[in-house]
Amino acid sequence: MMRTRPLKVALLGCGVVGSEVARIMTTHADDLAARIGAPVELAGVAVRRPSKVRAGIDPALITTDATALVKRGDIDVVVEVIGGIEPARTLITTAFEHGASVVSANKALLAEDGATLYEAAAKHGKDLYFEAAVAGAIPLIRPLRESLAGDTVNRVLGIVNGTTNFILDRMDSAGAGYSEALDEATALGYAEADPTADVEGFDAAAKAAILAGIAFHTRVRLDDVHREGITEVTSADLASAKGMGCTVKLLAICERAADGRSVTARVHPAMIPLSHPLASVRGAYNAVFVEAEAAGELMFYGPGAGGAPTASAVLGDLVAVCRNKLNEATGPGESAYTQLPVSPMGDVVTRYHISLDVADKPGVLAQVATVFAEHGVSIDTVRQKGKDGEASLVVVTHRAPDAALSGTVEALRKLDTVRGVASIMRVEGE
Ligand code: HSE
Repeated sequence: MMRTRPLKVALLGCGVVGSEVARIMTTHADDLAARIGAPVELAGVAVRRPSKVRAGIDPALITTDATALVKRGDIDVVVEVIGGIEPARTLITTAFEHGASVVSANKALLAEDGATLYEAAAKHGKDLYFEAAVAGAIPLIRPLRESLAGDTVNRVLGIVNGTTNFILDRMDSAGAGYSEALDEATALGYAEADPTADVEGFDAAAKAAILAGIAFHTRVRLDDVHREGITEVTSADLASAKGMGCTVKLLAICERAADGRSVTARVHPAMIPLSHPLASVRGAYNAVFVEAEAAGELMFYGPGAGGAPTASAVLGDLVAVCRNKLNEATGPGESAYTQLPVSPMGDVVTRYHISLDVADKPGVLAQVATVFAEHGVSIDTVRQKGKDGEASLVVVTHRAPDAALSGTVEALRKLDTVRGVASIMRVEGE
């Protein structure tokens, strides 16, 4: 039986994503109503610039007073696509206080202060859904929160930033330098005028915090995530990776420790073997590889950004929240019962590819090898190429704690015979 009284939706933000949400709500109104069991009606749209022409949206719905909109009391679902910490946080908590559930795409806020949002939703018996916050259209939050709720996730390894994947892909496939590839990403509209959030790994770190919290049923905040961007990645790194049968990707890696007593979350460029499924993720696409105890290895792949793909995730949440509302139920809330602590980067154990410029004379290799040994880091392979009394030395280690590797590099830098540490890159996914 279809309910005739519509469910009312308030849209906060009408930019690239918000305008697509509004468009699909209008063009697919009948299908959405049939899937939900009641029509959904756009009851208000809060924007910053009311004079902007917005095709397909009744101008009478436009307001600059987002607070008044979420306080109306007759709104069933608030869709927040304005981003940032404030006023988004206050608007979302106010929406819960005034009887609405919330669908949000706000990764920065969820990573910074998800606990406040979850607690406000629970206090008022409302839903908080945020599929669009991580990896655009790719269903990832719901599979982790619901489909895998009976399993134990041990590792999440993902390419969750399309801009940096595009840049690294161009460096790899076209031999472009970092700046050239960034310019191309900007020209194509992938990178923002200020690309810091993407290229320095902040965007991916926020997504890693959200994924780790959900995957391991604990609280992980942005500050808990070790972050390194791609600005230092060079064509030489890509060439070295190729020589090892690898490519370089900016990875978000969330892991449960082997003893199960802690977790780690990190974002950094890493070499991965060409045989790993993530190596074939090209251009601005995203993909997330999940390792779970019973399920084994799962891979989620698709467009991680853009108006329509992100709107797809928002609308999926909107349908779910509206269905819950009609059933007088709520979906899953926060699950942080494990209270697993987040360990520092120094505790992470992985392999390393280190490129050194050294003097090419007797005893240098032995000296370098001794430093590795003194820090408990076992060497897997060494390659050396010499020219005019200098040599470049590439060392690949066995698995070692990050703290031991940092100590090794610090000591190597102090050797007279080491002219410089050209690059250090972790090797993942083997
Ligand atoms: N700027 C992000 C990316 C999309 O390049 O993937 C939004 O999170």
